[in-house]
Amino acid sequence: MSLASTGYALFMSTSRAPSSPHSSLTGASAIEARTALLKRAARDAMDYLEGLDARPVGATAESIAGLNVLRGPLPPGPTRAEAVLHLLNEYGSPATHAMAGGRYFGHVIGGSTPAALAAAWLVSAWDQNAARFVTSPAAALLEEIALEWVRELLGLPAGTEGAVVTGATMANLSALAAARHALLTRAGWDVEADGLFGAPPLTVIVGEEVHPSVLKALGLLGLGRNRVVRVPVDAQGRMRTDALPHLDGRTILCLQAGNVNTGAFDPAAAICPAARAAGAWIHVDGAFGLWAAASPEYRKWTKGFELADSWATDGHKWPNIGYDCGIALVRDREALRAAMSIRAAYLAVGEDREPSDYVPELSRRARGVELWAGLRSLGRSGMAEIVERTSGHAKRFAAGLKAAGYQVLNDVVINQVLVSFGSPEKTLATIARLQADGTCWCGSTVWQGQTAMRISVSSWATTKADVELSLAAMIKVAQE
Ligand SMILES: Cc1ncc(COP(=O)(O)O)c(C=O)c1O
Repeated sequence: MSLASTGYALFMSTSRAPSSPHSSLTGASAIEARTALLKRAARDAMDYLEGLDARPVGATAESIAGLNVLRGPLPPGPTRAEAVLHLLNEYGSPATHAMAGGRYFGHVIGGSTPAALAAAWLVSAWDQNAARFVTSPAAALLEEIALEWVRELLGLPAGTEGAVVTGATMANLSALAAARHALLTRAGWDVEADGLFGAPPLTVIVGEEVHPSVLKALGLLGLGRNRVVRVPVDAQGRMRTDALPHLDGRTILCLQAGNVNTGAFDPAAAICPAARAAGAWIHVDGAFGLWAAASPEYRKWTKGFELADSWATDGHKWPNIGYDCGIALVRDREALRAAMSIRAAYLAVGEDREPSDYVPELSRRARGVELWAGLRSLGRSGMAEIVERTSGHAKRFAAGLKAAGYQVLNDVVINQVLVSFGSPEKTLATIARLQADGTCWCGSTVWQGQTAMRISVSSWATTKADVELSLAAMIKVAQE
């Protein structure tokens, strides 16, 4: 079928603009128009990336106000694709935060390495539905390979199954669904078939500083956001081993590898052997921290987490895969499959691994391809280098801020720094001035009762020069 005969040409600019979907354009001119559009999009994207260094890191109030141009009713008829792209680039691009650059330190946000970004472009052109092997052999296979690489990088047991999802929230959900299945099956209950009404109770244990995405996942699974036992934590936010309650075969114990504020790791080596012996299911939220396992220098923090039953992590944080990419890993393949698979006559089951048997979705983007490309490009040493370099940058921030007289609240073990500039009001005012200054972007938090600025160095793109420039801006605004 030619592009013109699909009515596609209507939306493309050509020398002979059509007036209806049935206009008699040749397929060749429609293809030329598409090629020109994609080249324009690539040019705009490259200009955007090249301009990141010179623009304010946070979107300005003016650029956000400019977004209003994009409002309005849905036009009654088509708009030329070039005009749509122009609107996006003219008004959308300036109203983004420069997360793809080297000086965005908010939340825990990685950039996108060139290979991951290029793969994302190609994946969009492929437009694959990565549900099943039959819908996309390339997506299915590349995802399978990438998951094995992730397992190896994180030092997890052979045979561990995985799922590529949108982020750590969905990874926590997927892994905890497997946990729910396994523990209730053991208790003689088929939770997928019969739901939770009348099911034997499960106990879920979390640390006091559990990430809210774990609680959200528990809520979605009917296990309750509040129906958890919260274990007190120490001065870095780590679960206190001496405060652990009784564990048994009806317990899901949620550990954390990388506290979103401090970067601290729960003491897995001290907790996991006894938890395993008691028959508890150990789940690890390691959205970014688990990747420390890829570095010979930082691996020590992840010791013991390999004894868990399931793990959640993100590709879009430390591996810099670009949004969005999360990964769930489950030691017991059958538990994950039982929780996630669906069957229908039209969904052929072959010999190959079926991606949708392990994830909440059926139709899905082929984000495993981007994961494959990003990891293939980094290799083991590249992944270790990102962990080491960004953690080194975090130490430099901490040292520079301390030297300027400000209080660093956490032990900087990986890539997270919490700094207080004095009273809560002074700290919040400093953050507001820093965001307005535009050199870099940091957000705020309240951690263990203290108001702080968070610095999360997660992007491959951050250089020493970015750190020095940002440090100088932080000290300048703090002294104003
Ligand atoms: C420890 C931890 N868990 C879970 C999440 C949620 O990750 P996502 O936003 O990818 O769902 C985060 C996000 O920063 C996190 O730091």
